[in-house]
Amino acid sequence: MALKYTKKTIDHFLHPKNIGKMDRPDGFAEIGNMVCGDQLNFYLKVDKGKIKDVKFLSFGCASNIATASIMTEKIKGMKVEDAKNFKWKEIVEDLGGLPQQKIHCSIMAVEGLQKAIKDYEKHIDEKLKKEVREEVKKAKKIVVEKK
Ligand code: FES
Repeated sequence: MALKYTKKTIDHFLHPKNIGKMDRPDGFAEIGNMVCGDQLNFYLKVDKGKIKDVKFLSFGCASNIATASIMTEKIKGMKVEDAKNFKWKEIVEDLGGLPQQKIHCSIMAVEGLQKAIKDYEKHIDEKLKKEVREEVKKAKKIVVEKK
């Protein structure tokens, strides 16, 4: 029995958007599904709290490619805070539906996005902590010099 895909899903599968790697991303995630064996890698560039660029690599099925492709189109330019609330149902609706057996592909795409955002936030946290430590160091040096 063949699965029924919408024209839009087939189009994103055959002509995926934002596919590829990215040098020095601000956020990166690798996510996989142990049951089907598919995998996705996501790369994010963030500027002033917005997703400036996003790329993905797929090691998976047609739905894996199509769902990641349409999601990257939707989130490019979006505020990181809004992207955190992006739902897999939006992908399915936008594609005009997915076969029931392929819903998990859209869920994995969104989980990959959330993981890449967490990676970005971890780096921001580390960067801020480093800046604070350097400022404290400078301040201590000034105090010591004034004594
Ligand atoms: S079959 Fe698992 S991601 Fe598509």
